[in-house]
Order: sequence, then C-alpha cells, then structure tokens
Amino acid sequence: MSAIITIDPNTATVATQAPAAKAQAKIPPRRIDFNFSAENVPRYYVGNDPFLTTFVTALSSVFPEGEFFFVESVRHYRDRVTDPALKADVSGFIGQEALHSMAHKAFNDAATVQGFQVDKLDRDVGILLRAVKRFSPPMFQLAATACLEHYTAVFTEMLLQNDELIERFSPEIRNLYLWHSVEENEHKNVAFDVYQTVGGSYLLRASVMIPTTLIFFPVILWFQARLLAKDGQLLNVRQNLKGFNYIFGYKGVFSSLLPKYLDWFKPNFHPSHHDTDALLATWQEKLFGENGALTSKMVKPKSKKA
Ligand SMILES: [Fe+2]
Ligand SMILES: [Fe+2]
Repeated sequence: MSAIITIDPNTATVATQAPAAKAQAKIPPRRIDFNFSAENVPRYYVGNDPFLTTFVTALSSVFPEGEFFFVESVRHYRDRVTDPALKADVSGFIGQEALHSMAHKAFNDAATVQGFQVDKLDRDVGILLRAVKRFSPPMFQLAATACLEHYTAVFTEMLLQNDELIERFSPEIRNLYLWHSVEENEHKNVAFDVYQTVGGSYLLRASVMIPTTLIFFPVILWFQARLLAKDGQLLNVRQNLKGFNYIFGYKGVFSSLLPKYLDWFKPNFHPSHHDTDALLATWQEKLFGENGALTSKMVKPKSKKA
C-alpha cells in the first residue's frame, strides 16, 4: 500500500500523518528513500553517455524550483476550489510535487558533488521564476503551470512506454524517473482543472504555451551546454550530434511527442483525453504493489499520537 504523506498547506513542508483518512486518495504522495551517492549512481548514468546524461541532468536542474513554482501557483487559488474531489486532488498534487522537488534537489546536490555544478543551474532557475512571479499575474502563472504540466504529462507518458529509453538509465535514476512519471500522470489533470475552475480562458492557456515553449527548450539546452562545457565534452561534436539526433531528430524521443504536444491548442482539450489509466495501473503495481520495485524503499508514515 502507498505511504500517505500530507503537506502543510501554508508552508508546503512535508509531514507524515495517519494514513486511514487519506487511504482512498487518487493522488497519493509517496516518499521514497533514494540513494544518489556516487557509489550508487555512475557519473554518466544514462547509457554511459555524457550527452544524454547532461540532458537529463539539465532537466532535473529545473525541477526543484520549477515544481515549487507549480505548487505556489496552484495553492494561490485553492481557496476558490469548492468541489471536494478537486480539493482532494489539489492536496495530492501539492504533496506529490513537493516530494518531487525534494527528491530532485537531493539528486542535484549529489550531481554537484560529482562536479556537474547543478547548484548554479538551480540558482538561475530560481532567479528566472522569481522574476516571472514578480512581473506576471497569478492567472498567467497558473496557465504556465498547466502548460508545463502538459509537457511533463506527455514526456512521462512516453517514458513509461519506452522500455528502450528507460533501460538506459542506471537503476536508482530509473527508479527516480519511474516514480516521478507515474505521479505526474496521476495528477496531470489538477492544474488544468483548477485553471478552468477559476475562470482561466482558452485564449490565455493557448497563448501562454508559446512563450513557455520558447523559454523552456533554450533554457534546457543552454544548461546542458554549460554542463557539457564543465565536463570538457562540449566539443565532442560527433557524440553530441548523435545524442541531439536521438532526442530531437526525425522520430527522436522528443520529436515523436509533437502531435500530443499540439493537442494543447485544441479548444476542447483536456489532459484526460490522453488516456493513461491502463498504463498507470500497470506501473503502479510494478513499482508500488506487493512485490513492487520501490515498495521496500517507501518511507512509512509515522502515526500521530492523539
Ligand atoms: Fe513533479
Ligand atoms: Fe506535475
């Protein structure tokens, strides 16, 4: 059974609580005891490939600050959500994203110790997002969160389906991304539903996707270039072109996601239109079932004394 974690709604800090009340939650935050030490994670943890490793590390560098931004932008509107089911989903969303943020921070810290300087990227994401928070209205921030949640849902759905790719990850990093991918698909509707509930328009959500995309990919590629340069791999042209082609080339990992990405621009789009129920059920059992790969790594909640 999944461990149930609750998040303090005022601070987004994580605390464990008695599981009974939330046992039926559709979106259960699960705390996993990851080990990202250098003994447990090889330096080039994706297929022993510096390009793919630095690409995934660049993605991870945006998660701690990015997911905290998601939490804040949804929490800003939580008092305007009256539907009990959506309220419960918002609590689950906040719990899952807060734990993702913490897990990726732990990974990023370990990668920094290995010499990747992810701490500097993490700092720069914080500067960017604080500027967005300062100079844009809350509805824009919520729309941007819904856009980025669409990205993560589409990307993680692919990851759960792409055995060839996920098998390239070293075991503990595979655990990290499988756990994260399942939970992203469990809560993929939440930011969108809150956005719709509080009156977000189609025009805004469609138009916000354009600057979000124009900022997201250059930032990731810039971050990756910095990681490659620091690692002395930036001028390894043959290796980098091969890796770039694997991700962005014709039938590449990301290029193949284009049709699902473009679904966002349909006026009647809803994240549930990408049906992942069967995929989720399979992976929930594989990871968190009785003999699940992560079941023994799940941190059990401490019961509160009355
Ligand atoms: Fe997440
Ligand atoms: Fe998410």
